[in-house]
Amino acid sequence: MILVRISTTVIAVLLFSFLLVLTPAAGGADDAGKVLFDNNCVKCHGEDGKGETKIGRLIKTSDLNVRPWKRGETLEDMIKLISEGEGKMPKAKKLSEDEIAVVAKYTLDRFKQD
Ligand code: HEC
Repeated sequence: MILVRISTTVIAVLLFSFLLVLTPAAGGADDAGKVLFDNNCVKCHGEDGKGETKIGRLIKTSDLNVRPWKRGETLEDMIKLISEGEGKMPKAKKLSEDEIAVVAKYTLDRFKQD
């Protein structure tokens, strides 16, 4: 009986991870970028990029809507900024190189200069 219960759990977990993997891929690179941005940048920079979150205010996070930025104006520099960090912005230790490239491009596109 317990075996049945374990395998049901295993199947549920597998199905769930399968869905997690599929979801961003199905929506294309932009959705993947948004998911990465939401999970790794929003806690400081905020959904609107203004940096008006609790931690954002505390460490004086830059407003991403104000261009030009000190760092990250080119894709190459943005990748460097996210992988190495800058001042109070920590490097994104949990992200792979591919993920950093996707979120970098997304951020550049999303907070375009007018
Ligand atoms: C722990 C909070 C924190 C997180 C998480 C964070 N940032 Fe930052 N970010 C900052 C702070 C603080 C600065 C200002 C750094 C400085 O100049 O000292 C900054 C600066 C920047 C800048 C330069 C802005 C300018 O005006 O020069 C960009 C672009 C940026 N962050 C993008 C991102 C992206 C993209 C992510 C997610 C991958 C991210 N940040 C995650 C806190 C954070």
